[in-house]
Amino acid sequence: MKKIVISTGGGDAPGLNAVIYAVTKSAYQRGWEIYGSKSGYRGLLDPDELIRLTPEKVEDIMPLGGTILGSTNKGNPFAMPVENLAGEIQTLDLSDRIMRNFRRLGFFCHIAVGGDGSLEIAHRFATEKGMPVIGVPKTIDNDLEATQRTFGFDTAVSTATEALDKLHSTAKSHDRVMVVEVMGRDSGWIALNAGISGGADVILIPEIPFDIDVVCRKINDNELRDKNYAIVVVAEGAKAQGMKKAVCKKSSELGRDSELLGGIGEWVAEHIRKLTGKDTRSLTLGHLQRGGSPTTFDRLLALRFGGAAVRMAELELFDHMVALKTPDMAAIPLAEAVKGRKKVEVNSDKLLTAREIGICFGDSN
Ligand code: F6P
Repeated sequence: MKKIVISTGGGDAPGLNAVIYAVTKSAYQRGWEIYGSKSGYRGLLDPDELIRLTPEKVEDIMPLGGTILGSTNKGNPFAMPVENLAGEIQTLDLSDRIMRNFRRLGFFCHIAVGGDGSLEIAHRFATEKGMPVIGVPKTIDNDLEATQRTFGFDTAVSTATEALDKLHSTAKSHDRVMVVEVMGRDSGWIALNAGISGGADVILIPEIPFDIDVVCRKINDNELRDKNYAIVVVAEGAKAQGMKKAVCKKSSELGRDSELLGGIGEWVAEHIRKLTGKDTRSLTLGHLQRGGSPTTFDRLLALRFGGAAVRMAELELFDHMVALKTPDMAAIPLAEAVKGRKKVEVNSDKLLTAREIGICFGDSN
């Protein structure tokens, strides 16, 4: 009997459980045995951390946020920092141990669900260690070039839009400027989509460095149109013109593979307060955007990714990632898939529409 293992790595995203559901059900139909590795590769390091997945076990998980397997963005098995007895940090390469377990347990394929970091690790396992890997892309940021969409994004945008809808009434009641920081790393997809749909006055995205004076002018201009409040959406990776790098939080998390963005919302709010004299509040939506039940769109996409991954396993299309190429699914070599980041096109129809309905991007256009 063929045995496969599935893992979920990186930040969680609504829809992960739908992938697990689809992989389990379609692999089971083929007579395969399915295992889930807890917290990324932990189950492959320690087989006690493997869960046997059956259709009964996954029956109710499709609408649940998060991942029943757990996830981590601090666990690169090729360079795992561990504290020794003397309290010193050592970096260990655990990849051979993982490969030994993978072979000993008789797996013929690993379905790795993750963002760019996890997919890069999966690609290294395929090329350097010979692991038969299939990647499934996930991220609420929607910033992977190789696929038209990632699941989790639609849910995150819906959550952010709902939050913006709610902020209008309180901003209006108090004549306030509300600055809302949203996630998205170095891409402005969440800010752009939620900002347009949530009626923002200003949207600041990493793709368009902004001038704070232009932002303040737009806020002041609102008054000429008898609008005494304003909603400003700021992507966490947005930068003012002249800023060398995005605003980050200090993080002492051991083994974290990327910087923790955050703080630009408060920076923008402070400057608006100073330059316009208006009552201004900032809030960060943060991990709210990663939680909750996946939207229908995300569920369907996640299910389709899971189904396609199992079809690719059957065809032994390893070292590839499943990608959405509307209306179908495509298999993209992982080497290619991990390369490009998808940025907001500054001349896209979406952006033009936003400008035409009066949204300011903090530039002089
Ligand atoms: O990549 C998903 C994401 O939510 C980013 O939008 C955000 O910058 C980051 O993860 C937050 O990471 P963490 O969950 O480690 O705080």
